[in-house]
Amino acid sequence: MHQVRAVVARAKGEPVSIETINVPDPGPGEALVQVQACGVCHTDLHYREGGINDEFPFLLGHEAAGVVEAVGEGVTEVAPGDFVVLNWRAVCGECRACKRGDLHYCFNTHNATQKMTLEDGTELSPALGIGAFAEKTLVAAGQCTKVDPDARPAAVGLLGCGVMAGAGAAINTGGVTRGRSVAVIGCGGVGVAAIAASALAGASPVIAVDIDPRKLERAKALGATHTVESSQVDPVEEIKRIAAETYEGADGADVVIEAVGRPETWKQAFYARDLAGTVVLVGVPTPDMKVPDLPLIDVFGRGGALKSSWYGDCLPSRDFPMLVDLYRQGRFDLDAFVSEEIGLEDVEAAFDKMHGGDVLRSVVIL
Ligand code: APR
Ligand code: ZN
Ligand code: ZN
Repeated sequence: MHQVRAVVARAKGEPVSIETINVPDPGPGEALVQVQACGVCHTDLHYREGGINDEFPFLLGHEAAGVVEAVGEGVTEVAPGDFVVLNWRAVCGECRACKRGDLHYCFNTHNATQKMTLEDGTELSPALGIGAFAEKTLVAAGQCTKVDPDARPAAVGLLGCGVMAGAGAAINTGGVTRGRSVAVIGCGGVGVAAIAASALAGASPVIAVDIDPRKLERAKALGATHTVESSQVDPVEEIKRIAAETYEGADGADVVIEAVGRPETWKQAFYARDLAGTVVLVGVPTPDMKVPDLPLIDVFGRGGALKSSWYGDCLPSRDFPMLVDLYRQGRFDLDAFVSEEIGLEDVEAAFDKMHGGDVLRSVVIL
């Protein structure tokens, strides 16, 4: 048993608190990880607002990197001393999705079986099965992916959620390659990761769309070739115009990535893609939102694919080391996503900054 400091959301809508928690030694199939860095994500805030479920208290934090301290019985994936990036869930390898090769759709993903607790014994619900705003956390060994130990923890930890979601939406779900035009609607952390990955994949043009001009500046720095301020101009017309400048006759971008999670921006994506193009929804809508009312003839007539991207359709064991290598080679600028390094006690303030739109990611350093 280990006693460590951690950030806990005790009750719906209440500010988070710093608590001492009990972390068990790893049981079969589990790993104890010394957390080195963990990004502050919207989903942590959704947990503390009760938007995900009501299983309070939550141990927040899920975009993390750290060093394996100990492993339980039967663990072969990682060993003590390994530098790892954590992912949401370990796959089973047995279900229909796993056997079909679609591991990222595994029906039986699992997290650590043993529970971390508050000092009084109350069981904690770890955010996304991780709970890494803590000096140590307990996860399923399959949630650990070993990466280059020389990489900066604050940067590579971000691959555990938002950056992977965005980059994967482009490369894995959207199939972005050279010779393709891409538009990304919404340039927060997820959207700019999609932009950076599209640029890296050789796509051109890479069109960034946002209502906030500050976001467009950052998108440009990360590889956007064009920017569209959609509060000022019609983004659909602009995307079509820019795509046609490069590819004569194009009626939109080959791949349009929606990284806001709203019906109106999804509709923009729908009409801004070229014939036979692909729309990728990676922004997370709220449960009350509906698909916009579209003429079915337009769905039929434009052809192509309307996709959604879950966690960037990533395979952590394949994609995390790849992106870490590209980062180490200076080709994927993960440092640009780290707006500030903070302590555990600053998480509540980081939630406020997230709303202000000034930061891409605040990262807790442990
Ligand atoms: N049109 C274009 N851009 C918009 C619009 C709009 N109507 N509304 C908001 N945006 C922009 C914001 O200005 C911001 O730059 O979308 C971006 C959203 O970015 P973040 O709030 O930083 O969110 P991010 O972490 O990138 O996640 C994107 O996926 O994980 C979910 O909950 C998350 O739904 C959010 C989405
Ligand atoms: Zn499975
Ligand atoms: Zn997240």
